[in-house]
Amino acid sequence: EATASARRDLEGRRVVVSAGGTREPLDPVRYLGNRSSGKQGHALAEAAAARGARVTLVSSSSLPTPVGVDVVPVETALELEAAVTDAARGADVVVMAAAVADFRPAAYADHKIKKTHATGADGSADESAPVVELVRNPDVLAGLVAARGAAGSPVIVGFAAETGDAEGTVLEHGRAKLARKGCDLLVVNEVGVGVTFGRDDSTVHILRRGSDTVTDVGPASKGEIAHAVWDAVLPLL
Ligand code: CTP
Ligand code: CA
Repeated sequence: EATASARRDLEGRRVVVSAGGTREPLDPVRYLGNRSSGKQGHALAEAAAARGARVTLVSSSSLPTPVGVDVVPVETALELEAAVTDAARGADVVVMAAAVADFRPAAYADHKIKKTHATGADGSADESAPVVELVRNPDVLAGLVAARGAAGSPVIVGFAAETGDAEGTVLEHGRAKLARKGCDLLVVNEVGVGVTFGRDDSTVHILRRGSDTVTDVGPASKGEIAHAVWDAVLPLL
């Protein structure tokens, strides 16, 4: 990325990137999680810093901190929401690359949940499987869009991993999601079994609100995709 790094076109800009899959705890040793590696978010932070931006990376990933980036470590969707909302104040761009869990366990057990429970006065063992009740997490991206109102700042970028299905193609799902979310750009990642998660190369489509223009990127490294995303953000600043 020698030429890309030579571009200081994000100089003076403050950007926020979220990265990684959130972990929603069930008890002190267990959580509900997802396969997001955090690689794309970390690559976005690294690329922005290389292009001169001041970068806050809100990350649930254990990947190393990119050079010149401030990291706020988080674990849960609620922690991520608080950290992103705080960092977004006065920022020029927020990129939501994190895979935020849509649901979290309704209850947190402060002791490790045991396989077998002793129940009743007779001490008979309960061998039944527990049922985990879930509740909705806040939609952080939708909250950011709602909070910026008519001002139009910061620029907000969403990510979506989609598969084609009976309801529509990857791009149709992406368009519908962009309209629903109201963000400025949506980076749509085509996923399937064994594809994309944790891999080094991926293919994405960058969709713009209010425009039919699609930018196809890849197969390319996460670093190349990161630079393509910042290229798409620049005209919106
Ligand atoms: N997102 C978020 N908060 C959530 C869920 C998602 O901010 N609780 C953000 C993600 O970081 C991503 C975008 O929303 O930038 C799209 O996430 P995705 O899971 O594809 O969208 P959902 O609206 O959750 O729809 P789906 O039912 O397809 O999961
Ligand atoms: Ca989701």
